[in-house]
This record gives sequence, structure tokens and C-alpha cells, in this order.
Amino acid sequence: MESPKTGIVILALVAGVSLAGALLGWNVRQQVAHPAHSAALPAGGAANDHLRATYDPIHFKPAIESATDAQCLACHREVLEDKVRETSPAGVKAATSKAWYQRLSTYQGEQDTFHRRHLSTPLAKELMNLNCTTCHQGNDPREEAPGSSATSAPQSTQDFTLRKQVNVETTCLKCHGQMNIGVMGLPSPWHESKEMFGNSCLTCHAAIRTNRHQVTYLKAEAIEAAGQKNADVCYGCHGGRSWYRISYPYPRHAWEGMSPDVPDWAKGRPTESEARFQLPPSANKK
Ligand code: HEC
Ligand code: HEC
Ligand code: HEC
Ligand code: HEC
Ligand code: HEC
Repeated sequence: MESPKTGIVILALVAGVSLAGALLGWNVRQQVAHPAHSAALPAGGAANDHLRATYDPIHFKPAIESATDAQCLACHREVLEDKVRETSPAGVKAATSKAWYQRLSTYQGEQDTFHRRHLSTPLAKELMNLNCTTCHQGNDPREEAPGSSATSAPQSTQDFTLRKQVNVETTCLKCHGQMNIGVMGLPSPWHESKEMFGNSCLTCHAAIRTNRHQVTYLKAEAIEAAGQKNADVCYGCHGGRSWYRISYPYPRHAWEGMSPDVPDWAKGRPTESEARFQLPPSANKK
């Protein structure tokens, strides 16, 4: 049998450790409450802690529909300010490890991040007018799945798809699908047949489907001007940077001189751009 003395020593030890833990906890809580430690957080009303900011109503409909880039960037500066490393931790230089799509005739400048390539690089600014909400229409920070709870976006949502924060089929595919050479009657893929057409899309498209790019997120006139000089500009968004094996089913706007017969492949195609991107009628050229 052990002496009662050992028991008392153990008890004292436990009490001592508990007291130290409680003191530490109190100390940590005092630090969090200290104003100097919260000064760096954005002055965003209720949303001034991480969890509340994650669920800030601006991330969801309806608030996201009218959100400006500046509002998003107030918390997400990293999206535009972060740049890729010059050298990877293993010593590989970004400048000497460019992917095929970073060596096209339209590619300018150093390697850059995905967001910057769509919002702030020279080509992006010249041709496009994308906003945060062109792609981001709401997401589910918890399950990352539509319809995951009574309060999340419903299963039927078109705003984002499973495990993604955007709907890639209604955003990315528009500019990163395959070139639909079948409907164009081209004899072979563009890189093989382009010489036949003077390496210009406008050989045909000066007269066919001329009512194009009248949407808020594109700069229609700048695109035509750039495409006239270099077909890679057009091809870049219509097959040249295709991350997909499928093509986007573009709306088929009526154009001057169009035949009244609708070809089979075009039956069921919309004849107007997606409603949320349509320009007011007065802004339409022709
Ligand atoms: C009040 C600050 C705040 C504002 C304003 C804000 N966000 Fe966020 N956002 C956050 C925080 C915090 C997170 C969570 C980040 C994390 O956990 O890594 C987040 C997460 C996200 C995510 C990732 C979601 C996920 O499922 O992981 C996206 C995308 C996003 N925000 C986009 C936007 C867009 C677009 C806007 C403007 C419409 C916006 N945010 C405005 C603070 C904000
Ligand atoms: C061209 C479409 C597009 C545009 C425009 C866009 N985003 Fe994103 N964003 C994405 C995609 C795609 C992801 C990655 C989503 C995923 O992982 O499912 C993403 C991810 C994010 C994330 C999550 C963190 C991260 O970096 O992965 C934040 C935050 C975010 N975007 C904020 C913004 C803000 C703020 C803007 C406007 C300044 C913006 N985005 C513009 C497509 C876009
Ligand atoms: C409105 C047209 C448009 C949309 C929509 C679009 N992109 Fe792009 N994307 C471009 C253009 C133009 C470039 C070339 C930018 C450059 O070279 O500076 C590009 C480049 C890229 C690159 C290459 C970046 C690099 O390092 O060169 C990736 C990856 C990419 N897009 C993915 C996406 C994804 C994912 C989406 C959907 C969330 C998307 N894009 C939506 C037009 C678009
Ligand atoms: C030989 C003539 C010809 C050339 C060259 C040509 N196209 Fe086309 N294109 C067509 C025809 C024809 C259609 C279908 C017209 C219709 O809707 O009836 C078409 C349709 C399209 C469409 C809409 C596809 C859809 O599914 O609705 C896009 C986008 C397009 N062309 C882009 C381009 C680009 C970019 C280039 C150059 C890289 C190019 N075309 C070169 C003849 C051509
Ligand atoms: C920055 C990306 C981008 C560039 C560059 C670009 N396009 Fe497009 N193009 C699009 C998008 C996105 C749509 C669909 C717009 C919509 O929904 O109405 C489209 C639609 C079209 C259509 C279908 C027109 C219709 O009936 O609505 C044709 C044809 C076309 N583009 C040809 C061209 C030609 C020719 C060029 C070069 C002069 C070119 N595109 C350059 C992104 C681009």
C-alpha cells in the first residue's frame, strides 16, 4: 500500500497545473480583446472577425449582385496584389518554365496569377472588362455544394457548381472552349487550316455572325481592332486556350444578310446573350 503523502503530492501537482492553464487562458483572452491586435482588421461593421467575414452577406445573393470590385477588394487585396514567386522553393525560375499558353503571340509580361491575368494584365485590360461578380455569384463556404442545407443556395442554383466557387460552364467555357470547326465548315483544326483563310477569322467573319461581343464584360470594339491585326487574339478566346474538349454553345444573334433558315445545329440556341450581361439597347452598335 502507498502512503497518503504520495496522493497529496499528486493532488497538489494537478491543482498547480490547472491553475497555470487557467492563467494562460485568461492571458490569451485578454490579448485578443486588446485593441492593438484588432486594429489591422477591416472596418466592416459586424464582419470584423474571420468567421463573420467569411459569412458576410456580400458573398451571397442578393447582395453579391450589386457588389463592386472595390467592396470585394477591401477584404481580398491578395487577389490582385499577390504575384507568383520569381523562383520556386526548389530553385526553378518562373521566367524559364512557361507553359505553352504563356508563349503565345498575345502573351505579355512575366508569369502572373490567374486573377491578375483576367483583371490587370495588359491583354486583359485591352479586351475585357471583367468584374469579381462576372464569375463569382455566390458560393458555399461550408460544404461547397449547392443545396447542402436549408439556408444555402438551392440545388437548382446556376451560381456555382460542386466544390467550386464559380460556375465554370457559364464563365470559363465561354472563352476557353474548343473552336467549333464543324459549324464553321473548316476542313481541319485552325492551326492546320488557317493559311487557307489568310490567317484571319475576318475572311469569313467580316460578313458572318457580325453582331457579336455586345456584353458588359467585353470590349467589343477593341476586340475587333486587335483581331484585325492578329488572328491569335480571336483564336485565344475561341479555341487557342481551350481547357475543355467541348465548345461553348454561343447565342446566335441575327446579323445582316443572315439566311432565314436555321441550321439543325443551331436549333434551340439562344439568340440573345445571357440576360445578366446584356448591354442596355442604346449601347448596342448594330
Ligand atoms: C468583410 C470582408 C469580406 C468581403 C467584403 C468579401 N469577402 Fe470574400 N471572404 C472573406 C473571408 C474572411 C473569407 C474566408 C477566407 C478563408 O477562410 O480562407 C472569404 C472567402 C471568399 C471566397 C472563398 C470561399 C470558399 O468557399 O472558400 C471567395 C470566392 C470570396 N470570398 C469572394 C468574395 C467576393 C467576390 C467578394 C465581393 C462580392 C467578397 N469575397 C467580399 C472576407 C470578405
Ligand atoms: C474569370 C473569373 C474570375 C474573376 C473575374 C474573379 N475570380 Fe475569384 N476566383 C475564380 C476562380 C475560378 C477561383 C477558384 C475557385 C475554386 O477553387 O473553386 C477564384 C477564387 C477566388 C477566391 C478564393 C481564394 C483564392 O484565391 O483561391 C477569392 C477570395 C476570390 N476569387 C476573389 C475574387 C475577387 C475579389 C475578384 C475581383 C477583384 C475575383 N475573385 C474575380 C474566378 C474569378
Ligand atoms: C471573357 C473571357 C474569359 C473568361 C470568361 C475566362 N477567361 Fe481565362 N483567359 C482569358 C484571356 C483573354 C486569357 C489570356 C490572358 C493573358 O494572356 O494575359 C486567359 C487566360 C487564362 C489562363 C492562363 C493564365 C496564364 O498564366 O497565362 C487560365 C489558367 C485561365 N484563363 C483560366 C480561366 C478560368 C478557370 C476561367 C473561369 C473561372 C476563365 N479563365 C474565364 C479570357 C477569359
Ligand atoms: C471559312 C469561314 C470561317 C472562318 C475562317 C472562321 N469562321 Fe467562325 N464561323 C463560320 C461560320 C459559317 C459559322 C456559323 C455561322 C452560323 O451561325 O450559321 C461560324 C461560327 C463561329 C462562332 C460561333 C460558333 C457557335 O457555336 O455558335 C464563333 C465563336 C466563331 N465562328 C469564331 C471564329 C474564329 C475565332 C475564327 C478564327 C480563329 C473563325 N471563326 C474563323 C465561318 C468561319
Ligand atoms: C476576350 C475573349 C474574346 C475574344 C478576344 C474574341 N471573342 Fe468572340 N466571343 C467571346 C465571348 C465571351 C462570346 C459570347 C458573348 C455572348 O454571350 O454574347 C463571343 C462570341 C462570338 C461569336 C458569336 C456571335 C453571336 O452570334 O453572338 C463570334 C462569331 C465570335 N465571338 C467571333 C470572334 C472573332 C472573329 C474574334 C476576333 C475579332 C473574337 N470573337 C474575339 C469572347 C471573345
